[in-house]
Formats: sequence, structure tokens, C-alpha cells
Amino acid sequence: MFKVHMPVDEALKEVRAVLESGFVNEGVQVTQFQNAVRDYLAVDNLILMNSCTSALTVAYKIAGVKPGAEVITSPMTCIASNTPIDNLGGKIVWADIDPSSGSINPSDIERKITDKTKAIVYVAWAGTPCDLEAIDSLGKKYGIVTIQDAAHAFGAEWNDKSIASYADFTCYSFQAIKHLSSGDGGALVCRNEADYLLARKLKWFGYDREATKDEKGEWKGQRWSADIEAGEVGYKFNMNNIAAAIGIAQMPHLDRLLAAHRSNGSVYATAFKDTSLVHALTIPSSARSSFWVYTAITDKSVDRDALIEKLNSEGIAAGLVHLSNDVYTAFKPYSADLPGVRAFGERQISLPCGWWLSEDDCKHIAGRVLALAEETRH
Ligand SMILES: Cc1ncc(COP(=O)(O)O)c(C=O)c1O
Repeated sequence: MFKVHMPVDEALKEVRAVLESGFVNEGVQVTQFQNAVRDYLAVDNLILMNSCTSALTVAYKIAGVKPGAEVITSPMTCIASNTPIDNLGGKIVWADIDPSSGSINPSDIERKITDKTKAIVYVAWAGTPCDLEAIDSLGKKYGIVTIQDAAHAFGAEWNDKSIASYADFTCYSFQAIKHLSSGDGGALVCRNEADYLLARKLKWFGYDREATKDEKGEWKGQRWSADIEAGEVGYKFNMNNIAAAIGIAQMPHLDRLLAAHRSNGSVYATAFKDTSLVHALTIPSSARSSFWVYTAITDKSVDRDALIEKLNSEGIAAGLVHLSNDVYTAFKPYSADLPGVRAFGERQISLPCGWWLSEDDCKHIAGRVLALAEETRH
């Protein structure tokens, strides 16, 4: 399902420079990679961290997630979206999803808002944005912080702008199997500057490391002044120069990789347009997906699990990328009635869609999906 794009010679050259410099912690390469990602996404306030989970944690912390606070979120995601809420002592409130898109349902979010709600969290499943304007206006209407988990969605857009323009916080992942991988890593984009300045401090023990660097990003040693402290305890969430060096080597390839994911996505969309066996997910008209994987919904008449088994036995890596988080024992205390999540969970199927596949590969996979789905029909 996943293949890491790794320009080995370029990455080795960048990493070698870090190793030879003897400075492997956060420094020049982190600043360089941070500027490159910020410019690529055309956003203002971006901070690199060591993972998307860390970026989410800082966003939740700034939103005021702590004991007594509630966070409305989708269970149909990686557990990384939701574990930081519980770790901070907040209460998870599941909202249902629309089973035809996999996206959180804005009406269910609104139903679940209380005076304890501190944040609304939404995931761009498989790289496709949720209804960003609807969620953003709910956040503004009720004065609640909006946090977008864009781990699957590097490069995804809404109205031709980065999806990060439509949330108070947007969190990206550069973990092993993402469009852009630095081994591990992540980024937090903040809509407003005050949050950005605080997040910069929280990501390094509550102390602004940027203020101790020169303009190239070189660390100039310890310095203290009240204005570079957060005034509260932070985290050790910084990216290091080795990870950043790997990320820097990926940047010149991103346009090509994203274009390949997108054109493979449209091959599947065309193949599944006129069949009753498999249904393409709905994509809002303002959205431009980054098609990390291609998720579709099998028809009720198809035995989804048997279909996956048959595809796997032909060497096609079809499967389920994430299980609904509410089935995990640790999340049991937050149970809710979620018919959309159940319907999506029973019928979702994800197919490989990445840059390593040609148009013919995707046509072949789509053809096998349809032929084998027919065989499993009951
Ligand atoms: C939806 C989602 N959110 C968050 C994460 C966590 O990303 P990271 O491993 O960078 O912390 C993942 C990881 O796969 C993910 O799929």
C-alpha cells in the first residue's frame, strides 16, 4: 500500500553534511527544511516538530485541552489523532462521519457542542479535505478552536489554497509512509501569530529556541529572557538536523510525486464511476485531494473481507488503513452511537495509489477489484 520515496544519493549528501558538521540537533537544516515546507504550502506560521502526534499535542494544549475539557473528534482515523486528547486529561466526544466520504459530519459536531467543548478535530481522510468551510464557520460561530489532522493530506487544497488556511491549527506528518517523509517528523501550521509564537516555545520545553539561533538557524547557545519563555512547561518535540536533511532531499521531487498520486486517484475514480460494485468517496467540489491512498466503499452486496483476501492473494495490497478508534479498549469509556462510522468501517477498502504505480497498474488493480468483487457478491 505504501512505498517511501527516497532519493538516496541526495539524502546521503545532505545527511553527510550534517554528520560531518557534528551538529545533529535542531539547527541550520531544520531551519532550511522549515522554510522550504512553509513556502511549498504557502502558509505563514509553520513549525517543524518530531511528529504529527507532537504537533497535535501542542495544538490541543494551546486550545485548552485538560481535565474537564471536551474535544469533538472522529474515531475513523489513526489513534494518533485522539491519544493526545486523553493524555492531556481531556474527554473525547465522538462525532459521526458521513459514510459516503469518511469525513466528520458538521451537523453531528454542532449537536455535540457544549460549554465544555474546547476543540473540534477533523481528519482529511486519505488526503481528501472535509467540508472545511462548514467546520471553520462552526468554530467561529461557537468560539471553539478548530484543529485539522492533515497527516494524510500534504499538498491538499481547498479553493486552490492550502487546507491549512481553513483551521486554527493544521498538523502534517512526515513519518515513514507519508507523501513527504523525513523518517519521522511533522509540522504545525497556526492560523494566528500569537498561537505560533506560543507553539514555538512549547515544542522545546517552553523556551523559544528560535530566539537563540542566527538567521541561518545556527544555535548560538543558551540565553534567557522573560519574553522567550512560554511561562509554562513545554515538551521535547523538536525535529533534528538528520531528519531535516532527509526532508530537504525530498523537496525537489514533491510536485512530481503529488501529481502521480492525483492522476492515479483519477484512474480509480473513472474505473468506479459506472459500477454498482464499488463506490468512489464523495469529494467536495472545492477540495483537491492529495490521494495518499485511494479509499472506496464496497457495495452492500459485496463481501468486503473476502474481496480484500482475494486481492491480497494476487499480490495487491488492498486493506484497511485505520480501524475506528472507538473499538479499542482504551477508548471504550467514550462510546457513542455512530451509524456512519459503522457503515464506513464495514465497507471501506483502501487501494494503493502512490507515485510508484503507473496508470496501467491502477487500471489493472481497478479491474481486479471489480472482477473479484463480482465473485464475492451474495
Ligand atoms: C491521520 C493520522 N494522524 C496522525 C498520525 C500520526 O503521525 P506521526 O506518526 O507523524 O505522529 C498519523 C500517522 O500515520 C495519521 O495517519
